[in-house]
Amino acid sequence: MESRLTNRTTAEKDVDSVLHPYTNLVRHQDIGPLVITHGKGVRVFDDKGNDYIEGLAGLWCTSLGWGEERLVEAASAQMRRLPFYHLFSHKTHDPAVELCARLLEMAPVPMSKVFLAGSGSEANDTALKLIAYRANALGLPAKKKIIARDKAYHGVTVATASLTGLVNNQRSFDLPLPGIIRAACPHHYRFGKPGENEEDFATRLAEELEAQILAEGPDTVAAFFAEPVMGAGGVIVPPVGYFPKIQAVLDRYDILLVVDEVICGFGRTGQMFGSTTFAIRPDMMTVAKGLSSGYLPISALLVNERVYGPVVEESGRIGVFGHGYTYGGHPVSAAVAVETLKIYAERDILSHVAKVGPALQQGLAALRGHPLVGEVRGVGLIGAVELVADKTARTPFDPSRGIGALVVGKAQAKGVILRAMGDSVAFAPPLVISEDEIAEMLRRFGLALDEAHGELSGG
Ligand SMILES: Cc1ncc(COP(=O)(O)O)c(C=O)c1O
Repeated sequence: MESRLTNRTTAEKDVDSVLHPYTNLVRHQDIGPLVITHGKGVRVFDDKGNDYIEGLAGLWCTSLGWGEERLVEAASAQMRRLPFYHLFSHKTHDPAVELCARLLEMAPVPMSKVFLAGSGSEANDTALKLIAYRANALGLPAKKKIIARDKAYHGVTVATASLTGLVNNQRSFDLPLPGIIRAACPHHYRFGKPGENEEDFATRLAEELEAQILAEGPDTVAAFFAEPVMGAGGVIVPPVGYFPKIQAVLDRYDILLVVDEVICGFGRTGQMFGSTTFAIRPDMMTVAKGLSSGYLPISALLVNERVYGPVVEESGRIGVFGHGYTYGGHPVSAAVAVETLKIYAERDILSHVAKVGPALQQGLAALRGHPLVGEVRGVGLIGAVELVADKTARTPFDPSRGIGALVVGKAQAKGVILRAMGDSVAFAPPLVISEDEIAEMLRRFGLALDEAHGELSGG
């Protein structure tokens, strides 16, 4: 019998052996994978030597780009010193402590404690568990429902996929779990009423949220989850004044605000956190991705005293806080995260984003006149272009035509990797990208857009 390993290319072995996340598994059998072999700066290279500008920083995470030797050094030094230890039952180690202390210092609002985990999903899952634990601690066992928004993305575990408001994360997985309330998506272009400006739209959404809370019973609603800019839902930038209005409603009914900064954290929106960009005061905040520039898996959940106080009491009553992941706060990941945060500070990554962000936003804005482009949106170094069948009427394409995927496929052939979320094409390049590289990325994308338009209009 022929081995799966001998005399086969990486691509052939892949098709035989790998179950791919976020992939049409039938199509994968036909087209096989793109094999990425290495990266440098904002570029990655495939096994045929083609280069690609990574317009999404991998999965919105590789903020420092590829080939950052300081992170390699931090990992190998820690690997030699202490490759594994954990934080269970009163143990600790330097990298985890250093990281938590730094995160508390950087937090956009006063926070009390940091819990370390391995992924964005785990951090959000932990937030959900703490919300239940806290409600029980406070003697409010009915106050446990969670509000999350349409098109939200908070992860893919059973619980966090239930928060996520995207159909493909739930369909056929028997999700969502009960106890999740769906609030409206704050996308003005799509859901604003005719003549309604952004601020009025935000006011209406806050009023609708209040009506939902009253209908459910405020004594049953524990928390509201939100990404500052919704990422995987299509890079949706909140309308003017949205978060302060939402937060005022939550405050009225003693509902916690959990801010998912997994994409927005560490400079993506132009401030260190999306919470600062959009005037949000989180009670709990999750971070991942840019925390280690994606070099190693790590995430964190920050909680304020309102959350931490009751949790401590409950653990004292029970005798243990019975939650923790083997790899939560892994010393090598934590050492790389600490080094990443040092680099952000030393190189003043926020000033760099302030300098080059306008090149991305203006470059995208220049595409507004393109016949396929309905809306362009973004902030800092994150943005999206929404493709439409009819610009004036804002008519979307029939989703089954996969126009977003078509354009992204053409962009890849022209040397830029982007991501289609439906018919919105997302941009979130490494934060270290230069203005020239932004121009080149947009030039390659523009060629793809023109080619797609030519084909679609029969040209
Ligand atoms: C906003 C947000 N939250 C949570 C997650 C889940 O993170 P992970 O894939 O590390 O579990 C993601 C992943 O893209 C995300 O974008």
